[in-house]
Amino acid sequence: MRKTLSILLSVVLVFSVMAGAEASFAKKAPAISAKVLHMKKGQSHKIKMTNAKKVKWSTSSKKIATVKKGKVTAKKAGTATITAKVGKKKYKCTVTVSNGKKKAVVIYFSATGNTKKAAVKVKKATGADIVRIVPKKAYSKADLTYEKTCRANDEQNKNSKPAIATVIKNLKQYKVVYLGYPIWWGKEPGTIRTFMTKYSLKGKTVMPFCTSGGSGIDGSIPFIKKNAKGATIGEGMDLTDATTAEIKEWIK
Ligand SMILES: Cc1cc2nc3c(=O)[nH]c(=O)nc-3n(C[C@H](O)[C@H](O)[C@H](O)COP(=O)(O)O)c2cc1C
Repeated sequence: MRKTLSILLSVVLVFSVMAGAEASFAKKAPAISAKVLHMKKGQSHKIKMTNAKKVKWSTSSKKIATVKKGKVTAKKAGTATITAKVGKKKYKCTVTVSNGKKKAVVIYFSATGNTKKAAVKVKKATGADIVRIVPKKAYSKADLTYEKTCRANDEQNKNSKPAIATVIKNLKQYKVVYLGYPIWWGKEPGTIRTFMTKYSLKGKTVMPFCTSGGSGIDGSIPFIKKNAKGATIGEGMDLTDATTAEIKEWIK
C-alpha cells in the first residue's frame, strides 16, 4: 500500500513539473506597439513588434507613409495602413498624416461606439482633426459588464492605467483639444488616465466631453483638472444625444 502510494505521488510530481515547464516555455503572442499613429509630414516613429523574430513590414501607400524595419516616415497628408506580418498573421497600424495646419483636435476613447458618434459630431462642428485612443488590449463584452469582477470595474476600483496603442507625434501643433470619453462608475475610464499621464497638454485649451447613462461629466473633471497641468480647462459637457446646434453652442 505504501509503495503504491509513493509511486502515485512520484507520478503526480513528475506530471506537475512537466506542466510547469510547459507553461514557462509557452510562447507569448506577438504584439504591435502602435495600432493608431498620428504624425505630421516629415516626422518618423518606430513601431515595435514584441515576441516576434521575423517581421515583414509593408505600407498600403508609400506616398503617405513609408516603413523600414518598423520605422514609419510620414510623407504626405492622408491615411495609410502599416502591416507587420509575422508568419501568417498580420498586425496593423493605421497611420494618419496631417498637413500640420489644423489647430484643434478631437481626442477620444469609446468602448461601445457612443462617444465615437459624439466625437465625430464635434469634429464636424469644429473642423478639427480626430484621434481615437485605443487600448492595447481591446475591451470584450465580458470586460464591460457591471459584474464586480469585470475588467472595467477592476480598473476603476484601482484607478489603473491600462496600456494604450495610440501614438500622437504631432500633438504640439494643436492649441485646442476636445477630449471625449464614456463615464465609467462616475468618472473617466482608465485609458484617459493613461493618455493624460503620457501626454502633456500644457498651454492648450482642453474641452472635456463625455457620453453617459445619466451621471454626466462632473465626476471626471477633478482628474482632468489635476492632470492637465498648465492647460486651460473649458466647460465640460455630456454630449449624449447632443445635436450639432447644441455642440456649436458649447464650443462658442
Ligand atoms: C463599465 C461601465 C461603467 C459605466 N458606468 C456608468 C456610470 O457610472 N454612470 C453612467 O451614467 N453611465 C455609466 N456607464 C454607461 C456609459 O457611460 C455609456 O453607455 C457611454 O455612452 C458608453 O460610451 P461608449 O459607447 O463610447 O463606450 C457605464 C458603462 C460601462 C461599460
